[in-house]
Amino acid sequence: MRVWAIANQKGGVGKTTTTLALGRGLASRGNRVLLVDLDPHASLTRTFGVAPEPPPEGVMELFGTPPRDLASLARASAVERLDYVCAQPALATLERRSANQPGLGLALSQALARHAGQHDYVLLDCAPTLGLLMINALAAADRVIIPTQAEPLALHGLAGMRRTAEMVERSRRRPMPVSVLPTLYDRRTRAGQEALKRMQEEHGERVWDDAIPVDTRICNTELLVQPGDDAAYPGRALSTYRRALDWILASDAQALEQAA
Ligand SMILES: Nc1ncnc2c1ncn2[C@@H]1O[C@H](COP(=O)(O)OP(=O)(O)OP(=O)(O)O)[C@@H](O)[C@H]1O
Ligand SMILES: [Mg+2]
Repeated sequence: MRVWAIANQKGGVGKTTTTLALGRGLASRGNRVLLVDLDPHASLTRTFGVAPEPPPEGVMELFGTPPRDLASLARASAVERLDYVCAQPALATLERRSANQPGLGLALSQALARHAGQHDYVLLDCAPTLGLLMINALAAADRVIIPTQAEPLALHGLAGMRRTAEMVERSRRRPMPVSVLPTLYDRRTRAGQEALKRMQEEHGERVWDDAIPVDTRICNTELLVQPGDDAAYPGRALSTYRRALDWILASDAQALEQAA
């Protein structure tokens, strides 16, 4: 079982869209996939047609005493082999609890350890906040995928996110491979082109040598969780995500080989 955190402290860079597109891609290649919504705003949860009120069972239950198992919280989506765990608005209150309840930073790692073998891939859709849930995701992840909008200001967010990942890597003493995925790329603008070039210069081979284009067809995320052949979903963004998945899988295979 491989665990990927989809994270960036900057908002609106395509984290949730990336989680859905990669998750769908992995499932269509025959993998059992679990998407976990770690954002109290619950965008991923809503995409699957679940309203946040009344709160569904979900991630909050991983922090209960005793904690629930992921398998009992996972729901099947309409897409074959694609399951998900809901977020609840109350996740925003976890931060306060963590002050007088040590050990909450490892709740997700422990739940995933108990879940080993039940899914092939677990994708963690993070909120754009450096807090307890992001720390849980990074502590548990075998890889962090950082969607980064190809625009100049987003480069600060990328640098900050890499520092956070390195901090967690040092404390857990296990390598944390990073994949930077340029998103929302508008190749017609000079700002977009320059941001992409700088991203590649400053972060080297961790950055994909292509970019997910701006394509409004992917904004209709409900389509991504409908059953059917991928080819039935038009749009350059989704087909580019398929190539991005090839790159991430190749990096993952390489990292596993090096660790062996
Ligand atoms: N390639 C794309 N082309 C056009 N629009 C996109 C693309 N990717 C994402 N979007 C749109 O951009 C917005 C932000 O995307 P998304 O919700 O995936 O980002 P996020 O990083 O998860 O945001 P948040 O930080 O709020 O969780 C959404 O409206 C989404 O539909
Ligand atoms: Mg999101």
